[in-house]
Amino acid sequence: MEKYDPKVTPWQVSERDFPREGSSTEKLKFLLRYAILAPSSHNSQPWKFNIRDCEIDIFTDKDRWLKVADADQRELYISVGCALENLLIAAEHFGYAHQEEYFREGEDSLVALVKLTPQEKIEKQRDPVLFEQIPQRYTNHNLYETRKIPNAEMAQLHACICEEGFWIFSTSEGPYILYTEEELRGRIDELIIRADAIQLTDRAYTKELGFWFGQGAFGTPWLMAKISQLALTYLNISKGQTKKDSEMLLSAPALVALASAADDRKSQVMAGQIFDRIVLTATSLGMAIHPMSQILEVPEIKAELRELLEVPEVKAEVAKLSPEENVFPQQTFRLGYAEPEQEHTPRRPLEEVLV
Ligand SMILES: Cc1cc2nc3c(=O)[nH]c(=O)nc-3n(C[C@H](O)[C@H](O)[C@H](O)COP(=O)(O)O)c2cc1C
Repeated sequence: MEKYDPKVTPWQVSERDFPREGSSTEKLKFLLRYAILAPSSHNSQPWKFNIRDCEIDIFTDKDRWLKVADADQRELYISVGCALENLLIAAEHFGYAHQEEYFREGEDSLVALVKLTPQEKIEKQRDPVLFEQIPQRYTNHNLYETRKIPNAEMAQLHACICEEGFWIFSTSEGPYILYTEEELRGRIDELIIRADAIQLTDRAYTKELGFWFGQGAFGTPWLMAKISQLALTYLNISKGQTKKDSEMLLSAPALVALASAADDRKSQVMAGQIFDRIVLTATSLGMAIHPMSQILEVPEIKAELRELLEVPEVKAEVAKLSPEENVFPQQTFRLGYAEPEQEHTPRRPLEEVLV
């Protein structure tokens, strides 16, 4: 069998290479090969890890924070939450019990300390099917088929949430009392169009997006990446991209918002963990998934989405919530079925993200 080189092909990670006879550090390092395959906004991979005895500490890498697109750092913490969840899924697969502590007074970038204890037989908290999906998963940017998502499969996505205070709101489960499904889709499309119009005519936003394109973060070949960077920085691509985003959105049978009862950092990390389980479950069901965050990146548009979810009847119907309870949208995405993407996006080598 060809030995993979994790520096150039992180997606080819194989469980057969787990260093069973190796040291504890080598084993924990191997688990991180799965963590770094997590999705992240602009593929910024804003994480760092420190291995200590039987523990892995996870940090944000604020040098990679998207200061313009993600001014409130919500996506930074969601992205780190996705990496944390991949780590926990891998840990369970290789026989580790785990205990997480979130944040610590006075340690600014420390997100979680994960204590890992090898066990003969561990009680798995997560669906074992998720592990195999980690190297298969990707964000699918294609147009989606109109085929509906069966209720049983939506139910499986809802079941990804085992924590209190998190919910999925989906257009495909309408009609809600106040809106038909079509009305709701129209409202969300309008929000996407307005958010795009604001962001794509904002020089700081397009320059930042162009920077990540230029770095090759989206997996485009070098020359194409540089041309995209120039186009984003110097041309007005607003009209074309807005139309494309609207078509992508409306092609999907379900537009979904993952929301939480609180809007603190821990809730955002946990939203990332849940989102990661949702994308892996969707992958296992042969579904395509694509986060579309522009609605949440423009504060006034986010407020309008929140109003839409905060309608008492909608809250009561979807999440059995009382009118006083808050609903904060954390991640929006489209969901459905589509042709596969051709390639995975690149990842930084593991050595680069170890403290
Ligand atoms: C918090 C978060 C927000 C994201 N927002 C968007 C988005 O608005 N538009 C988009 O096309 N992809 C979005 N993505 C997907 C990332 O671009 C994608 O995960 C990254 O490029 C890595 O590619 P992969 O998911 O195929 O591995 C987001 C991902 C995360 C975790």
